[in-house]
Amino acid sequence: MKKLSYILAAILSVTAFSAQADVETAQKLADKYAIIAKNINPASTGLSSEDGKKFFNRELTIKGKQVACASCHTTNPANEGKHIVTNKPIRPLAPAVNEKRFTSVDTVEKNFTKHCNDIIGRDCTAQEKGNYIAYLITVTK
Ligand code: HEC
Repeated sequence: MKKLSYILAAILSVTAFSAQADVETAQKLADKYAIIAKNINPASTGLSSEDGKKFFNRELTIKGKQVACASCHTTNPANEGKHIVTNKPIRPLAPAVNEKRFTSVDTVEKNFTKHCNDIIGRDCTAQEKGNYIAYLITVTK
């Protein structure tokens, strides 16, 4: 799995992002994940914002507590979130309301790796990451 992250990072880093950061940029990144997902699993039929939404809200038990991505990012990714441990505010994840999201591959990969490991105990797959972004793009308010 380590090796795969390196490959992912290498493929993703060749992507040149435009200076204009918005939903379009997030879409381009989602498209990259879709290509990688298809390479890994030829049966992949593309990204699913529905699956991304389920993933975002899915609660898992961690140290006796029910935790989901939504625990910190709230059930509406267009809203400001709040860290469940530090109580610090987290700017919205939806690129339509926060144009800084999904503009830096390094930041995105770093956060995915950290939070996926925290919540599901492993890094997310390219399919899961793509679905996740595909869902966030659909949220506009
Ligand atoms: C314990 C709180 C917490 C949980 C739970 C959490 N996150 Fe985060 N998330 C954060 C914080 C803090 C940041 C970074 C702060 C910022 O950039 O505003 C962040 C940022 C991100 C980013 C960065 C996006 C970008 O381009 O800036 C991604 C991707 C992300 N989280 C994915 C996830 C996923 C996937 C899950 C569920 C598996 C998840 N997070 C669960 C706290 C959390």
